[in-house]
Formats: sequence, C-alpha cells, structure tokens
Amino acid sequence: MNDPAFPLLRNGRTDDVDAVLALWRRAEASPSSTESAADVLGLLERDPDALILAEAGGEIVGSLIVGWDGWRATFYRLAVDPGHRRRGLAGTLVREGEKRLAALGARRLNAIAESHKPAAMAFWASAGYELQTSRSRFVKNLP
Ligand SMILES: CC(C)(COP(=O)(O)OP(=O)(O)OC[C@H]1O[C@@H](n2cnc3c(N)ncnc32)[C@H](O)[C@@H]1OP(=O)(O)O)[C@@H](O)C(=O)NCCC(=O)NCCS
Repeated sequence: MNDPAFPLLRNGRTDDVDAVLALWRRAEASPSSTESAADVLGLLERDPDALILAEAGGEIVGSLIVGWDGWRATFYRLAVDPGHRRRGLAGTLVREGEKRLAALGARRLNAIAESHKPAAMAFWASAGYELQTSRSRFVKNLP
C-alpha cells in the first residue's frame, strides 16, 4: 500500500470500475449519460491506456480519461477526491495525460469544463489551457 500523502499514478483496470464510479460521486463530478460500469468497461476494452488513476493508501483518489481519436485529444472526468485537493494532484494527472498524448502524436488538446464550476475553470486556466469563447458545443445522445 503506498503512502496516502503521495498518490501513485497508474492505468485503470477492470476491477477498479466500482471505485472509480464512487470517486466521481464523492468528487461531485456532474453525471453524464455515459457513466455506468458498462461504459467504463467499454472504455478500458477499447483503450486500456485511456483511464489514468491516482491511488493513495489503497484508495482511488484521482482520475482522468484521456481520449485520442488520431485527430484531436480530449480530457474527460478529471476528478480529485475532496480530501486530496489543492495539492497539485489534478496537475499531475493532466501532465501525465499530456505526456501520453504527445507520445501518440497529438498536438491540440481539449478540456471540457462546466462554466459554473469555479475550481474546474480555474484549474484549466492555471494548467495553461486557453478558454475559447468563440465556439459552442453541440451534443446529441443516441438512444
Ligand atoms: C477541479 C479539480 C479536479 C482540481 O483538483 P486539484 O487536485 O485540487 O487541483 P490542483 O491542486 O492540481 O490545482 C492546481 C491549480 O488549479 C487552480 N485551482 C484548483 N482548484 C481551485 C479552486 N477550488 N479554486 C481556485 N483555483 C483552483 C489553482 O490555481 C491551483 O493552484 P494552487 O493550489 O497553487 O493555487 C477538483 O477540484 C475536482 O475534482 N473538482 C470536482 C470535479 C470537477 O469539477 N472536475 C473538473 C471537470 S473539467
């Protein structure tokens, strides 16, 4: 078991799914329509490197999904356990994601943040991401 004060980063595995869903609830990450255990398992099956987790004292305390489609890259589900915030963990997760994406050849990275969440907005700005006000996001859920 690693030191709770120094979370380790590792890839998410199929047996982490319940703990990851619990982290997202604790972190009050806004629920999306693709957030069941089956959705997370589908992600891991498609890309075993897509889910980066931070583990401390045997607990999952941080997550980041790294999406790469060969054209653009997008980060999803950046979440840090409330008890581990403001210690640079989100920054560590994003830097790891950026490193992986650079190795894959990605050059343009997107992060979708909810504008009513000041911590999320402040985080991405502090991580060097530029807020685009000239674009809108269109979304459709398939049945
Ligand atoms: C947003 C979130 C991931 C940040 O995690 P974190 O590990 O606390 O972030 P870090 O410690 O790496 O913060 C780095 C910098 O981001 C900014 N920041 C982070 N949280 C902030 C807050 N609550 N208020 C203001 N600035 C904040 C600061 O500039 C901070 O640097 P500092 O601590 O030296 O001032 C975390 O608050 C969270 O999980 N929130 C709920 C889920 C969510 O909104 N996720 C984002 C989805 S896009």
